[in-house]
Amino acid sequence: MRTPLVAGNWKMHLTPQEGASWIAAIAADLGATGIPDGVEAWVFPAFPALPAVIEAATTALPSLRVGAQNLHAQPHGAFTGEVSASMLTAIHAQGVLVGHSERRAGGETDDGVRAKLAAAEAAGLAAVVCVGEDLPTREIGAAEAWVSIQIRAAFAGRAPVNPALMAVAYEPIWAIGTGRTATAADAAAMHATIRRTLADIGQPADALRILYGGSVKPDNARDLIQAGDVDGLLVGGASLDPISFANILRAAAA
Ligand code: PGA
Repeated sequence: MRTPLVAGNWKMHLTPQEGASWIAAIAADLGATGIPDGVEAWVFPAFPALPAVIEAATTALPSLRVGAQNLHAQPHGAFTGEVSASMLTAIHAQGVLVGHSERRAGGETDDGVRAKLAAAEAAGLAAVVCVGEDLPTREIGAAEAWVSIQIRAAFAGRAPVNPALMAVAYEPIWAIGTGRTATAADAAAMHATIRRTLADIGQPADALRILYGGSVKPDNARDLIQAGDVDGLLVGGASLDPISFANILRAAAA
C-alpha cells in the first residue's frame, strides 16, 4: 500500500514572512487534527523561505515536511549561486525536487538529474524526480517513450532506492500552469508505463510513489488521485493558497 504524497511547489513565490503566514493559515484551517490521516504532505519553498517555513511548521504543523526546489550535485566548491545537499540538511530541510521541467528548460540535463539524485540520497534527503513530455512530443505519440528515457537516465547505474526517500512526479509540460490537465486516463496510462520502466531497471516499482502534476486544483484532485497508479500530486499554483492546498490534502485523503 503506497501512502498518497501531496506536495506543493511554490516556485519563485513567497518570502520567509509569507511562507510563515502560509503555515499559520493552513494549520488553522486543518485544525487540531493537522494533516489528514493517510496522506504525506510536503511543501517546497524557495531557498530564502526554507528556514522560516521549517521553523513555523515545526511548531504549528509538525507532520508537514519541507524541502528545497533544487540542489547542486557537489558537496561544496566554487559554484556561485548554488546550494549543496549538506547545506539543506543543516537547516533541517528533509527533501528536494530534482529535474523540474522549468529547470530542465534552463539547461538541466539527464546527467545532472542523475548526479543530483545521488547527492540527495547520500545526504539522506528525500527526492522527488520530475519527468514529463512537451506538447509536440505528445502529439507525435512519443510521450511514453520520452518519459521512459528520462526515467532510465535518472536511475541509470543506481542500486534499488529506498522508496520512503524517493518519488517520481509525472508532469506533462503542456499541463503546467496552463489550466490544462491530463485526463485521469492519460495520467493512469503514463503512470503505468513509468512503473513498468522502474521495474525493468530493477527499482522497487511497486513501492515507489508516482505523483501527477500539472494544473492540479481542489476540484480535479480527487479524480486524478483515483486514477490507476497515481499515488499523489505535485501542485504548483494552487499550493500558494493555503486553503486550496488544505482542500487538495482532504481530497487526497478522502
Ligand atoms: P501547476 O504547476 O500546478 O501550477 O501547473 C505544477 C508544477 O510545476 O509542479
